[in-house]
Amino acid sequence: MHKILVATEKPFAPVAVKGIREVIEQAGCELVLLEKYTDRAQLLAAVADADALIVRSDKIDAEVIAAAPRLKVIVRAGAGYDNIDLKAASEHNIVVENTPGQNSNAVAELVFGMTVMAARNMYNGTSGFELKDKKLGIQAFGQVGRNVARIAKGFGMTIEALDPYCPDEVLTDAGVTPVHDIKALYSGNQFVSIHIPATPETIGSIGYELIATMPKNGVLINTARREVIDEDGLARALADRSDLRYVADVRPNNAEALEQACPGRVFFTPKKMGAQTAEANINAGLAAARQSVAFLLEGIDRFRVN
Ligand code: 3PG
Repeated sequence: MHKILVATEKPFAPVAVKGIREVIEQAGCELVLLEKYTDRAQLLAAVADADALIVRSDKIDAEVIAAAPRLKVIVRAGAGYDNIDLKAASEHNIVVENTPGQNSNAVAELVFGMTVMAARNMYNGTSGFELKDKKLGIQAFGQVGRNVARIAKGFGMTIEALDPYCPDEVLTDAGVTPVHDIKALYSGNQFVSIHIPATPETIGSIGYELIATMPKNGVLINTARREVIDEDGLARALADRSDLRYVADVRPNNAEALEQACPGRVFFTPKKMGAQTAEANINAGLAAARQSVAFLLEGIDRFRVN
């Protein structure tokens, strides 16, 4: 019987786990659950006899892969797969998949939860500003970026987006103006929402030169990855410009220094929680379970990323 290990340091909602179990057991496979593990040794032991592995942001590096001799497929229940060593997986003939789009609405809704909070001075009682008629720049028009654009229209915002991998027509069809220069995106939009993945090209790519050019009362929203920000550059921009705000679902390494230096202008969730809704957990978790089963039983690898 195929063993499918769900290893989640940050667990899915119980209702999602119930659905995952049903999908796996109905397919005649066995679910092994490793939730909230605190020690990497637990993960290394659990993968030893797993045929499939479902994870979230859990770090799956060469050591974990080497400890999993039976492993055939890893499914990242989510969009970003920067936590998985694709090279090591490929070297061991392990297929890696993600579940694109399944948690994107949850992340997009959090963008606006944090945007309104920033515009209202972190709810400190003083007068802030509204989103209506303001300009929003979306950096990357993938599944999350598209949901952000949809919601932004409801707020009455004007929307621009930058995405070199997406045809302009996709943006214009969504009522979004394409921008082809990152400097123009940052200098032309009071609100900028980041949705790029963490790759060697994007890591540290957003720094002082971009952030410091944002219009008056600029708000930078990062629900993507901590690593894409040049944190020293961010700190300098916030120091130079007392009107700028930064809100992130990914606590920066210099979070405490920023909180002290910029009270009321920065906010960070304690743990990444963009995808922490029952709906997103159900969508991504069940998709991951179905994809694992489909690969193990039928060799289907539609969402393969390696
Ligand atoms: C993703 O890449 O899908 C999101 O960042 C959510 O990640 P999580 O599953 O760790 O919450």
